[in-house]
Amino acid sequence: MDTIWKLCFLMATLTIVLSNSTTTAKSPIQHFINCLSHSLVSEVTYTPNNTSFSTILNIKIQNKRFKTATTPKPLAIITVKDDSHVQETVKCAKSNNIQIRIRSGGHDYEGCSYVSDVPFVILDMFHLNSVDVNLQESTAWVESGATLGKIYYTIAKKSNKLAFPSGVCFTVGAGGHFSGGGYGNLMRKFGLSIDNIIDAKIVDVKGNILDRKSMGEDLFWAIRGGGGASFGVILSWKLQLVPVTPQVIVFDVKRYVSEGATDIVYKWQLIAPKLHKDLFIRVQPNVVQIGQEGKKVVQVSFIGQFLGKIERLLVLLSKKFPELGLNKSDCFSMPWINSTLFWHDKPIGTPLEALLDEPKDPQPLYKKYKSDYVKKPIPKEAIESIWKLMIEGEDLFMQWNPYGGRMKEILPSETPFPHRAGNLFLILYINIWSNESSEVSELHMNFSRSFYEFMTPYVSNSPREAFLNYRDADIGANHPSNVTRFGIAKTYGSKFFKGNFERLVSVKTKVDPENFFRYEQSIPTKIIVKVILNDQNKSHM
Ligand SMILES: Cc1cc2nc3c(=O)[nH]c(=O)nc-3n(C[C@H](O)[C@H](O)[C@H](O)COP(=O)(O)OP(=O)(O)OC[C@H]3O[C@@H](n4cnc5c(N)ncnc54)[C@H](O)[C@@H]3O)c2cc1C
Ligand SMILES: *[C@@H]1O[C@H](CO)[C@@H](O)[C@H](O)[C@H]1NC(C)=O
Ligand SMILES: *[C@@H]1O[C@H](CO)[C@@H](O)[C@H](O)[C@H]1NC(C)=O
Ligand SMILES: *[C@@H]1O[C@H](CO)[C@@H](O)[C@H](O)[C@H]1NC(C)=O
Ligand SMILES: *[C@@H]1O[C@H](CO)[C@@H](O)[C@H](O)[C@H]1NC(C)=O
Ligand SMILES: *[C@@H]1O[C@H](CO)[C@@H](O)[C@H](O)[C@H]1NC(C)=O
Ligand SMILES: *[C@@H]1O[C@H](CO)[C@@H](O)[C@H](O)[C@H]1NC(C)=O
Ligand SMILES: *[C@@H]1O[C@H](CO)[C@@H](O)[C@H](O)[C@H]1NC(C)=O
Ligand SMILES: *[C@@H]1O[C@H](CO)[C@@H](O)[C@H](O)[C@H]1NC(C)=O
Ligand SMILES: *[C@@H]1O[C@H](CO)[C@@H](O)[C@H](O)[C@H]1NC(C)=O
Repeated sequence: MDTIWKLCFLMATLTIVLSNSTTTAKSPIQHFINCLSHSLVSEVTYTPNNTSFSTILNIKIQNKRFKTATTPKPLAIITVKDDSHVQETVKCAKSNNIQIRIRSGGHDYEGCSYVSDVPFVILDMFHLNSVDVNLQESTAWVESGATLGKIYYTIAKKSNKLAFPSGVCFTVGAGGHFSGGGYGNLMRKFGLSIDNIIDAKIVDVKGNILDRKSMGEDLFWAIRGGGGASFGVILSWKLQLVPVTPQVIVFDVKRYVSEGATDIVYKWQLIAPKLHKDLFIRVQPNVVQIGQEGKKVVQVSFIGQFLGKIERLLVLLSKKFPELGLNKSDCFSMPWINSTLFWHDKPIGTPLEALLDEPKDPQPLYKKYKSDYVKKPIPKEAIESIWKLMIEGEDLFMQWNPYGGRMKEILPSETPFPHRAGNLFLILYINIWSNESSEVSELHMNFSRSFYEFMTPYVSNSPREAFLNYRDADIGANHPSNVTRFGIAKTYGSKFFKGNFERLVSVKTKVDPENFFRYEQSIPTKIIVKVILNDQNKSHM
C-alpha cells in the first residue's frame, strides 16, 4: 500500500472506533468532564447542575442581548485558577472535540466569549488577574483576567510618572482588549496597547505554554491585534509602561448645535488628527432633551486630555482651535490615574479604589455597537443631516476618536491592526436600550443598521474598515460557528485586517491546522483541497 492508502485505511479504522464509542451512553461533555482531573472538576468546574452556575455565567455578561432565556448556555464553565488548569481544559476539549469560548472581561460586543450556536464550554479567566509591576524596567506582567482598572491602579500605586495606553472602560479585561488592539486617550502619543506589549505567555492547541521566544515572532505578531481566541489562550502579557507628566489636563466642554457645534465639529475634523501628540480631543455627539416640552436636540461633548501644562494647552488651542473657546476654568489638572476616573464619567474626588470595582450590573442594558473609519472630512451639510437622523432615531450616539500622531508613524503591517496613516478618526456607534420587548430590540437593531447605511458615502470603502475590538457581527460571521467558511472569513477579515489577513491565515494554519480555536469571526486556516476518491481508487484496497 502506498501512503495515501495507508492513510485512508487508518481513517476508516478511526471512523469505526469513533462511531463505536458514540454508541455508548456517555455524551461528549461527560467525556470532557471525565478527562479533567478530580480537583479541576470539584473546585473550578460548574455545570448547570451546580447551584451557582447562573451566577458564574452572568457575572461577566455586560450586554442583555446575550442574557435572555433563549441565549444558548454553556455545558460547563471552567473558572481556571492556575496555568495548568488552562492546559488541561484545552487538552480535554480538543480530545473530545468540544468548542471552547475564552472569556476574560466579558465585554465582547457580540458575546463571542460566552455564547455559541454549537455545544460549548467557557474557559473563564477572571481568577487569573495578577498585575506585577517592575519599576526598574518600567514593565509589568499582567494576567488576562486583570481589568484595565486593576492595571492602572497597580501602576499608580508604584509611580505617578508611569502609565499604560489602553481603553477608557476600566472593567474591560486584558485578555480580549489587548489581543484586539486596545486604544484609549494616550493613543496619539504612544500608539495602541499592542504597540507597547513586549512579551506574552500563551497556551497553544497542544496544551503547551509558550512565551515570545518559544512561540516565535509570527505568532507573537498575530496575537497582538489579530484576536487571541483564533490562536490559543493568552495567559499573560508583558507591558512596556510609558512616561507621563505628574499632572495631566482634562476637560469636557459641551456645545449645542444652536451654539455652533456643527462648525466646531467640522473644524475639529481638519485639525484634531494633526494637533500635537500630547493632545487628544474626542468628539461625542448625543441627543439630549431640553425645555419643558423635552425637545430633542444634539449636544456635542469635546472631551480632551493634554500631557503638559495648562498654559501651553491654552496657547496651542487658541492658535489651532479657537472655535472651541476653551478657557482655563474648563480645565482640570490631576495625576494621570485620576484622569482615568474622569474619562469614566466619575466625579472629581472619586477614590481611586473605584478602579477595582467589578461591574455591578445585575440587569445590564441591551447594546449594539458598530464602527467606521473616516479618511476625508465629512461636509458640513452632511453633519447637519447626521444630527437630524440622530434626533429622529432610536437613542444612537457616537464617539469620534482622532488618529494621527504616533498612530501614523507605525506601519500598517507592524501588527495585524492595519488602520494607521490616512485615517482622520474612528467612529464608534453606540445604541443602548432597556425595553424588554423584542419589537423594541428589532427597532434599535434596525436603526443602527440604517444609520450605518446612511454613513456609507462619508467613511472608508473597499473595504469598509472596522475595528476588531468593536466587534460587529453584521459585517460577516460564521453560523454555525464550528464551520469557518473561508469566503465569509475573508469578508470580515479584510475589514478588520486589510492586507494583514493573509499573514494571519498563514500563522493560523501553522499553529492550529485543525482549526480547534474557532468562533464566528475567527481567522480561518488555508483552504485544503480535498482529494475525492472515486470507486476506481477504492478498488485498489
Ligand atoms: C464599555 C466599554 C468600553 C470600551 N472601551 C474601549 C476602548 O476605549 N478602547 C478599546 O480598544 N476597546 C474598548 N472596548 C472594547 C473592548 O476592548 C473589547 O470588547 C475587548 O475585546 C474586551 O475584552 P474582554 O477581555 O473584556 O472581553 P471578552 O468578552 O472576555 O473577550 C473578547 C474576545 O477576546 C477573546 N479572549 C478573551 N480573553 C482571551 C484570552 N485570555 N486568550 C485568548 N482570547 C481571549 C474572547 O474569546 C473574545 O473573542 C470597550 C468595551 C466596552 C463594553
Ligand atoms: C465497541 O465497543 C464495545 C464495548 O465498549 C466493544 O466490546 C467492542 O469490541 C467495540 N467494537 C469495535 C469494533 O471496536
Ligand atoms: C459542582 O457540582 C458537583 C456535583 O455536585 C460538585 O462535585 C462540584 O464540587 C461542584 N463544583 C463547584 C465548583 O463547586
Ligand atoms: C447533572 O445531574 C444529572 C442528575 O444527577 C446527571 O444525570 C447529569 O449527568 C449531570 N450533568 C453533568 C453535566 O454533570
Ligand atoms: C457543528 O456542530 C453541529 C451541532 O453540534 C454538529 O451537528 C456538526 O457536526 C458540527 N460540525 C463540525 C464540522 O464539527
Ligand atoms: C469659561 O467658560 C465657561 C463655560 O464654558 C464660562 O462660564 C466662563 O464665563 C468662561 N470664562 C471666561 C473667562 O471666558
Ligand atoms: C486624585 O485622587 C486622589 C486619591 O483619591 C485624591 O486624594 C486627589 O485629591 C485626587 N486629585 C485630583 C486633582 O483629583
Ligand atoms: C416597551 O415597549 C412596548 C412596545 O413598544 C411598550 O408597549 C411598552 O410600554 C414599553 N415598556 C416600557 C417599560 O417602556
Ligand atoms: C426591521 O427591519 C426588517 C427588515 O428590513 C423589517 O422586516 C422589520 O419590520 C423591521 N422591524 C421593525 C420593528 O421596524
Ligand atoms: C484516484 O482517481 C482519480 C480519478 O480517476 C485520479 O485522478 C487519482 O490520481 C487517483 N488517485 C490515486 C491515489 O490513485
